[in-house]
Amino acid sequence: MKKTVCVIFGGRSSEHEVSCSSAANVLSYIDKELYEVITVGITKEGNWRLYNGGLDEIRNRTWESAEFKKCILSPDPRHHGLLVFNKNGDVSVTHIDIIFPVLHGKNGEDGTIEGLFELAGVPYVGCGVLASSACMDKITTKIILKNAGIPVCDGFDICAHEAEDACAVNKKITDTVGYPVVIKPSNAGSSVGITLVKSESELAPALKLAVENDRRILIERAMNIRELECAVMGSYEKAEASCVGEIVKKTEMYDYETKYITDSTELVMPADISDGISDKIRQMAIKAFSALDCFGLSRIDFFMDKDTGEILLNEINTLPGFTNISMYPKLWEKSGVSNKELITKLLELAEKRYN
Ligand SMILES: Nc1ncnc2c1ncn2[C@@H]1O[C@H](COP(=O)(O)OP(=O)(O)O)[C@@H](O)[C@H]1O
Ligand SMILES: [Mg+2]
Repeated sequence: MKKTVCVIFGGRSSEHEVSCSSAANVLSYIDKELYEVITVGITKEGNWRLYNGGLDEIRNRTWESAEFKKCILSPDPRHHGLLVFNKNGDVSVTHIDIIFPVLHGKNGEDGTIEGLFELAGVPYVGCGVLASSACMDKITTKIILKNAGIPVCDGFDICAHEAEDACAVNKKITDTVGYPVVIKPSNAGSSVGITLVKSESELAPALKLAVENDRRILIERAMNIRELECAVMGSYEKAEASCVGEIVKKTEMYDYETKYITDSTELVMPADISDGISDKIRQMAIKAFSALDCFGLSRIDFFMDKDTGEILLNEINTLPGFTNISMYPKLWEKSGVSNKELITKLLELAEKRYN
């Protein structure tokens, strides 16, 4: 009998639109000979809807105008699925075998919804609660990486109330990493709230912007970098790394616009680096996957210092994009794993973790 996969997309984060693009692709890649598919869209307001429409409507974000039934995932493991609110007022239970949360950012890949999946007792694709939340928080990720001996960018972190005193922050910058610095919210994603600060005069507005996005802020030495990414897939015991890709950007910062809207970046796969460096990055990626207790999938992003050649781990994305321009599926394709095979493997891993 075919297993029922529930793809959940949308959500309340700033990456709602990216999630829609990713979900349309994931839905098209699921092997329909092996799986039945049901789809749940979460609106920006956080309302759950059982969606029966086509992929184009998800892609162009008109899916919310389609006919729908309200639903929620039951936290009671006896239901093992969705509670669907029918038009006549009845509530029915739709059994789910595996959940594929195609959600990015807050409330999605940060452990919150993963906690609900744990309560529901339904296997799900991707990392558990701890890895999801630890990787979502850049400060926490760096602490764990440092502890595992994986090099990260120099910097320090402050709390929102400390950010109010720009003079004191300025002093700390000049005493430590020095300008230019990159100021980022610890927990945001997609370059939201990130500023490159070249001198003290630009500091206060950058701190203000970061505080609008999170309570904790990371201040890093701004580096002259190449950006390299590696896709990891696997279990707690055995994970594999894809070939390494490079994002060549034509603007100064790799920001949200650049990432998702314009075509001012180029993905180069495999990256033009030596086999030695590529092996080193792949090993670091697997080590980080394990250090953060990741499971299923993660895209691991690195900086290569253009001046020294040093490789630093920048961040771990536990639910990387699956859009048409996303690195994660492309890196696996380049490494010989088709999109369809990739999704099947991820679904199989989800069940393996649960068993
Ligand atoms: N320390 C840094 N030095 C230079 N560029 C940086 C630094 N930190 C971030 N960036 C630039 O900002 C982008 C977004 O930062 P990142 O830490 O990856 O956050 P996000 O979660 O938003 O992707 C990076 O891809 C890179 O282009
Ligand atoms: Mg990034």
